[in-house]
Amino acid sequence: MYKRQQEIRSPGGGDNLFLSSIVAVRPDTGEYVWHYQTTPGESWDYTATQHIILADITLRGSVRKILMQAPKNGFFYILDRETGELLSAENYINITWATHVDMETGRPVEVPEARYTDVPFMLYPSYLGGHNWHPMSYSPATGLVYIPVLDIPAVYGQPENFQYNPGVANTGTDSVVGGLPDDQAERDAIGALVQGRLLAWDPVQQTEAWRVEHKGSWNGGVLSTAGNLVFQGTADGNLVAYRADTGEQLWDFSTQTGVVAPPIAYEIDGEQYISINVGWGGAFALVFGEYVQAESLPNVSRVLTFKRGGKATLPAVPWTPTVVFNPPELKASDATLQLGHQTYQDVCMGCHGLNAVSGLLIPDLRGSAYLWDETGWEDVVRGGKLKDLGMASFANNISAKQSEAVRAYVIQQAQRAQALQKAAATNL
Ligand code: HEC
Repeated sequence: MYKRQQEIRSPGGGDNLFLSSIVAVRPDTGEYVWHYQTTPGESWDYTATQHIILADITLRGSVRKILMQAPKNGFFYILDRETGELLSAENYINITWATHVDMETGRPVEVPEARYTDVPFMLYPSYLGGHNWHPMSYSPATGLVYIPVLDIPAVYGQPENFQYNPGVANTGTDSVVGGLPDDQAERDAIGALVQGRLLAWDPVQQTEAWRVEHKGSWNGGVLSTAGNLVFQGTADGNLVAYRADTGEQLWDFSTQTGVVAPPIAYEIDGEQYISINVGWGGAFALVFGEYVQAESLPNVSRVLTFKRGGKATLPAVPWTPTVVFNPPELKASDATLQLGHQTYQDVCMGCHGLNAVSGLLIPDLRGSAYLWDETGWEDVVRGGKLKDLGMASFANNISAKQSEAVRAYVIQQAQRAQALQKAAATNL
């Protein structure tokens, strides 16, 4: 029997309070004051853990003490921070799970397919949200909020027989349906939908002021300054400064690595500095390997500091991202490959990438020598041989049969990649 994800989590019914909620408590006592739930009965990983920015702004003729949030679900919320009253909510990206927020009830009006109960459904935003943890910023000078936006779809489907499996992700969604299609043209078509941008948002009008489309989706947090500047690092390895009021690009610097963190500004002895942690990683970089590899940069974790007139340059970073595919012959049955596919997507995908395509922060399993070595594979996957390097033992989560089935599935995916690589080489 299919089971709605909301029922798995809360068999007694209800909205699953306080999931995806903004809750006000008194700091001295912890006493509850008010709450606003952005996504009742949350079923898509639309958390509301994103930043909350406070401001006093003039709204419909009067100054209001507000808070602003752009949570994962794609709506930009303005609440009265004293009372929790919802003042406005408009979507800051195209969304397909709901049409709007009903201002009477404060609830999103969902489209019927959004809960993917009967058939899988492609939704915007994805489980990564329209905005993830990368900090947005607000400039009182321009009155605009600068949001590092993720514009990515995801297919959601119900698992046929959901069973709680302690110690691994229990999303209650079908991770095979949510994976990549086999056909490369279809994969590329999805890749074209995987987008990201810097969005300047007018919170009073609840409309876009300007946008800058980025090459990658998973870009850095934002800093806005009193000097009419907005700084953001990008997935494709740049730190960029824009005019805060218009979005005009004024300056950029090649960071040699993707950037996900936000910059900070400070002053020492009358001199102003910008510092930023550069370095590439996080959920998107790990999971979306198919779309990261295309313009892959190494992860080089450094703190970079800038001041006006600074002349330092970065030493070159060697990087050869090409994975060599040399898989053994595939001997597994269809049933084994299916078990391997399911187990891989349920348990391994979060670090090794959707459908075994690595984001290259950790070894691409399709190029692993362990594909040739059944015992060695078992020693790593269930024996914990590489646990000190971050590859824990999965002995408590998957059986030896499942581990071996995953090896077969990865061999199959390596053969697929090898065939594509050969075809590309002959087409040159
Ligand atoms: C929480 C993250 C995480 C998960 C989940 C995970 N791995 Fe790993 N795995 C790693 C890391 C990190 C490494 C790299 C260790 C190193 O640097 O050598 C690794 C390495 C490996 C290697 C060695 C590759 C090589 O050639 O050196 C194998 C095999 C492997 N993982 C299989 C699996 C399988 C199968 C699963 C699912 C059952 C899985 N992993 C799930 C993090 C993870």
